[in-house]
Amino acid sequence: MSDARTYPPSEAMVKGAHVNAEQYAQMYEASIGDPEAFWAEQGKRVDWIKPFTQVKDVDFTLGKVKINWYADGQLNVSANCIDRHLDTRGEQTAIIWEPDNPEEDAQHVTYRELHAQTCKMANVLRDQGVGKGDRVIIYMPMIPEAAYAMLACARIGAIHSIVFAGFSPDALAARIKGSEAKVVITADEAPRGGRNTPLKTNADKALASCDAAVKCLVVRRTGADVPWDEARDVDYTALAKTTPDTCEPEVMGAEDPLFILYTSGSTGQPKGVVHTTGGYLVYAAMTHEITFDYHDGDIYWCTADVGWVTGHSYIVYGPLANGATTLMFEGVPTYPDASRFWQVCEKHKVNQFYTAPTAIRALMGQGNEFVTRCDLSSLKLLGTVGEPINPEAWTWYHEVVGQGRCPIVDTWWQTETGGHLMTPLPGAHDMKPGAAMKPFFGIRPVVLEPTSAEIIEDNPAEGVLCIADSWPGQMRTVWGDHERFEKTYFSDYPGYYFTGDGCKRDADGDYWITGRVDDVINVSGHRMGTAEVESALVAHKKVAEAAVVGYPHKVKGQGIYCYVTLMGGEEPSEDLRKELEAWVRNEIGPIAKPDLIQWAPGLPKTRSGKIMRRILRKIAENDYGALGDTSTLADPSVVDDLIENRMNR
Ligand code: WTA
Repeated sequence: MSDARTYPPSEAMVKGAHVNAEQYAQMYEASIGDPEAFWAEQGKRVDWIKPFTQVKDVDFTLGKVKINWYADGQLNVSANCIDRHLDTRGEQTAIIWEPDNPEEDAQHVTYRELHAQTCKMANVLRDQGVGKGDRVIIYMPMIPEAAYAMLACARIGAIHSIVFAGFSPDALAARIKGSEAKVVITADEAPRGGRNTPLKTNADKALASCDAAVKCLVVRRTGADVPWDEARDVDYTALAKTTPDTCEPEVMGAEDPLFILYTSGSTGQPKGVVHTTGGYLVYAAMTHEITFDYHDGDIYWCTADVGWVTGHSYIVYGPLANGATTLMFEGVPTYPDASRFWQVCEKHKVNQFYTAPTAIRALMGQGNEFVTRCDLSSLKLLGTVGEPINPEAWTWYHEVVGQGRCPIVDTWWQTETGGHLMTPLPGAHDMKPGAAMKPFFGIRPVVLEPTSAEIIEDNPAEGVLCIADSWPGQMRTVWGDHERFEKTYFSDYPGYYFTGDGCKRDADGDYWITGRVDDVINVSGHRMGTAEVESALVAHKKVAEAAVVGYPHKVKGQGIYCYVTLMGGEEPSEDLRKELEAWVRNEIGPIAKPDLIQWAPGLPKTRSGKIMRRILRKIAENDYGALGDTSTLADPSVVDDLIENRMNR
């Protein structure tokens, strides 16, 4: 890997970028040498109502893990993302909204308009009895109102929890209950790729199983007729017309929660990752500016959905804290055709474009003509996030989309980390296709030998990736379960934050993320716990047992491979296969639909009953020649059957 092709930063980038190689070296050194001083300085990126006097108060010791940044400071996130820009850039566009249907008009929301709309939403929420510390669920299409909702919660001190609009009513219900939310904000329908998802109807199904006191605020997106419960539902669009457009921001402590975002882990149901106010905003703003080399006046587009952390940090909070113009896209890359991303870049003269490898791979497969027919001369920088990018896709992105001119920032990070932890910086670092390259300021990556937990100092190195010290954007706890937080991230490798990722450091000292080392899979950039899919499968009455693993998939990165053992007396059939696919889709959402289902008369287990996933992974990868030691299996013969009937050939 150290002999991978290296792309040095362009001269223009070295000259014009916020950070060049020399500055990186000096700032990185400072951030590690004296984190207190470094982060005290960076803390000035945001406006404080009451300035902090404390900077860092962190303990990674199991049993007493605590993470506090700027703890005695007070601020408001929405005031930082909106109000403080009004004097200097009130008429500048804050949000460009591009609808699903290109025939429909785009919207340009100025900072002044953003202020008015956010205040209206905040006032409506207050009128519904929502106050500081209360939870609000946001289940929305990619429309400006989703950003207003986030910022409105931040304005009144409510904690939002966004549920991706592709999740099922069951998944939504679990999150409403898990966070004990007072209000759900949704829309009548969510147009995507020419089809409308019935969000309000989904919300109705979810709310049917929740506490009757939960209110439902409905934004009119398509105007479709939707079922209505007078006692519970509130027509936001109608109400907003007469609601005042100013609202005093609440004074928040730096460590007050800003949002909860549920994400998948290796065991159990998704956990509520908690991010707080001060440190998160400092980190989101700083990484947005430096990683993307954002300069005043640039048009920046992140194609993620606000339902994922990327949308939180890099569509809304980071860019708006920096007074940027951020583009929000309602649609999908292939509607009306595979040229859409590039048409939107041309139409709005996008300067920085940030997307996921899965989209790049899908579009690459459609041919270059979809790209080359568009004028992409405005592009200055490209980014990727969410999964490892294969060198082939990287090179296509660089040559065809970026015309060999734009650096690519391959940003490695997680829901838990709040912002980028590793990425090449465009004016400072060489790029290597597929490498996350260098740690961001304040980040101390360590590569550990997986079993002995010893630090591997020499290069090249390969092992599990941990982080040795905190940074302001780090998650603080799991909602309602601090013990689970400690156990998940601080128990396997004591004294470190364990990322769950494997990693290589090459001879040059550059980092390459190799993928998850736990039972989390990454399907089209969507993070999923295999345990969640398993529990959905076994909830079906004909399924006795199920084991789910990932396998390499050309476009999705990883596909979902399910081994299913049926109840006695049930016969496998094509109909049942379809039924199970639909079942999982329904239980979790379309993103969790199994790609391959193999009927397994039995699963390979140890004598103590533990499923040997290593073997199942190998078979799913079609790499059954190297199964390793199977002698500890209770019944080695089941393996032969699984190999014989494997689905991925
Ligand atoms: C993976 C998304 C390789 C990784 C921001 C991580 C990546 C998980 C990259 C987090 C990248 C994310 N290269 N792998 N540039 N970015 N990952 O929480 O396995 O949805 O642990 O956050 O995605 O996914 P999450």
